Amino acid sequence: MNDWGLILAAAGSGSRFRSETPKQFVKIEGRPLYVYSLRSFIAKVREMVVVVSGDRVKEVESQIKILLPHIEEDCHCEVVSGGNTRQKSVALGLERLTAGRVLVHDAARPYVSPDLISRVMAGVEKQGACVPALTVTDTVKQVDSGFVVQTLERTELVLAQTPQGFETDLLREAHRAADKIRLEGTDEASLVEKLGFAIMVVEGDPSNIKVTWPADLKRATEGSNSAMS
Ligand code: C5P
Repeated sequence: MNDWGLILAAAGSGSRFRSETPKQFVKIEGRPLYVYSLRSFIAKVREMVVVVSGDRVKEVESQIKILLPHIEEDCHCEVVSGGNTRQKSVALGLERLTAGRVLVHDAARPYVSPDLISRVMAGVEKQGACVPALTVTDTVKQVDSGFVVQTLERTELVLAQTPQGFETDLLREAHRAADKIRLEGTDEASLVEKLGFAIMVVEGDPSNIKVTWPADLKRATEGSNSAMS
């Protein structure tokens, strides 16, 4: 039986995006960006928790009913109110989740492919925790106050993407442990790492960009047809 759930993190304010509307709600071809992200998971999971800011819960519930009318045939979808950090938003999503395995995805990554999702799911089934990542091609430097401190060994570095997948109980435990030491991570894996748990890395996808800056939205608009096909 499919025992997979999704938490879609969509409660950010998108301060780097310099727009009144957070990036995940900007419309492409009439549909908010998060709808493209959500759609990719419909055939993969039995449960979805979409985490948005409190003032958007009702709006998103009705948008999903209109734009993805058949979603409930494949999975149960719930919209909940998030927190003021990404980590808190995911923790609130976790409270609602019943599935034994969970994928956590940034709503601002509309180009996630079915293959990438399957790779991560296979990694979790094998190892209990899995993240997709890209190798680093640029030279990476650590800097301080505008001066180079050192050059990092790029063969040891990767760029982590989402969806990141975990046994749900493991991610819950990682959140509890992080709260205790007041650790604030920018992804789920960083919390699970602190438990000392081995996290499998699978190949990411360069197309799976996170819309962060206004220029990214232009690229997203150009790719919208393929994302919704
Ligand atoms: O800020 P960042 O780009 O890392 O956000 C990644 C994802 O986390 C976005 O989809 C954003 O909406 C979500 N987020 C959230 N709750 C927050 C902050 C960010 O769900 N408080």
